[in-house]
Amino acid sequence: AGSVSRGADGGLTVGGVSVRELKEQFGTPLFVMDEADFRARARAFKDSFDAAFADICGGVDVYYAGKSFLCTAVVKWVEEEGLRLDTASGGELAVAARAGIAGSRVALHGNNKSDAEINRALDMGLGRIVVDSLDELVRVGDLAQARGAQAKVMLRLTPGVHAHTHEFIATAHEDQKFGLSMAADTTAEAGISAAEEAVAAAAAHPGIELLGLHCHIGSQIFEPDGFALAAEKLLRFLAAMQEKYSITMPELDLGGGYGIAYTPVDTPRPAAEIATAMAAVVRSTCAELGIDAPRISIEPGRAIVGSTTFTLYEVGTLKTVRVDAPAAGSDAGNNVTYPRRYVSVDGGMSDNARPVLYDADYSAVLASRTSGAAPQLSRVVGKHCESGDIVVRDVYLPEDVAAGDLLAVPGTGAYCWALSSNYNYLARPGVVAVRDGSARLIVRGETEEDLLNRDMGA
Ligand code: LLP
Repeated sequence: AGSVSRGADGGLTVGGVSVRELKEQFGTPLFVMDEADFRARARAFKDSFDAAFADICGGVDVYYAGKSFLCTAVVKWVEEEGLRLDTASGGELAVAARAGIAGSRVALHGNNKSDAEINRALDMGLGRIVVDSLDELVRVGDLAQARGAQAKVMLRLTPGVHAHTHEFIATAHEDQKFGLSMAADTTAEAGISAAEEAVAAAAAHPGIELLGLHCHIGSQIFEPDGFALAAEKLLRFLAAMQEKYSITMPELDLGGGYGIAYTPVDTPRPAAEIATAMAAVVRSTCAELGIDAPRISIEPGRAIVGSTTFTLYEVGTLKTVRVDAPAAGSDAGNNVTYPRRYVSVDGGMSDNARPVLYDADYSAVLASRTSGAAPQLSRVVGKHCESGDIVVRDVYLPEDVAAGDLLAVPGTGAYCWALSSNYNYLARPGVVAVRDGSARLIVRGETEEDLLNRDMGA
């Protein structure tokens, strides 16, 4: 988070609030979000993309991807900083509605939207429904037509750009559940792609206003090349479709996926650098094709919220084991042993499933005090009944870390609370926003009563 420092007592202070006070007031585990940092990162995306694309399409619409972390307070901040909101389900739409954001500034995603979700989107007058399949296109069109309306639709395409964290490879076909394939289908009657079929169907459906095209190439991506390549592919397709079907598609959404640093080995690029690289390709491709540039939009989630938040845990049980490992450069059998200390905290995979799901790496610091003790190789683990319940695989923590100390695990703003569960009947933690020396609970933690609420009795 942006404003973390050490207070006079040696404990961490964030947004002017000490973690020891936070522990007193709200308990642990606790998600601690720096509101000013969130707002600054949201603004940085909006400002740098606006600047980079000003001469191309007058600016960029930034849709914050609510799936990364969503509650009504965050929707307010997003709105106040001039962003829009991207949702992925009826539940996320319900949060948007509760927050009171204008439907025209909200988008809906999903590869399997129910009729109820589509109707809710139409009721709310959503700015865009991102259609994922031919089947859904017809359902959306029919539902809108039945109420004498037109649904504003973007088509999600798979441009065949496989983006991994550090590299991307271009392939002809995307073998995945999302989106309409751009590869020509030789088995189809006309030999056209699913993407083209969808454009033709959308243009012809009276219940649909076709706004344009969308793609999302992946997540936690550092290099701008993949985004730029996808933009180029979509622009070429957009130009060809405009010509062939005599239509205009005024919008192009290039999705989210901008990476953040979880540990020092991660080297994400600043938003401005990515924006500039993407703008260069959009500018030159549109010029080459001789088309007016469509209005560009993006959908960052992680890169806005991820680094604004840390999880505060209390240390409980400690134990040290000796680990056997082959000595560096030696033959098998010539082993060395070294100590590894297990530091258990009062949460774990129920509040951060990412290490288990993606082998994600985090770091941890002693938050409640400073210590001059020697660093000791430690593994921070949760309290769940699984040996894979690891919070931080390897981290050096002071030798004198003891029960009752507080640990902070940074970078937990995105896809941690959002993916949290009640495994082992643990209550999901609350989220507190700190700002200018005060702390406000924006999502309360669950209570034991919440946990038992839905149990219908024996
Ligand atoms: N737009 C679409 C259509 C998406 O599917 C996603 C993420 C985003 C935007 C936002 O991507 P971001 O900027 O946050 O990378 N649970 C995984 C990440 C799943 C991402 C799903 N889609 C994780 O914890 O790493």
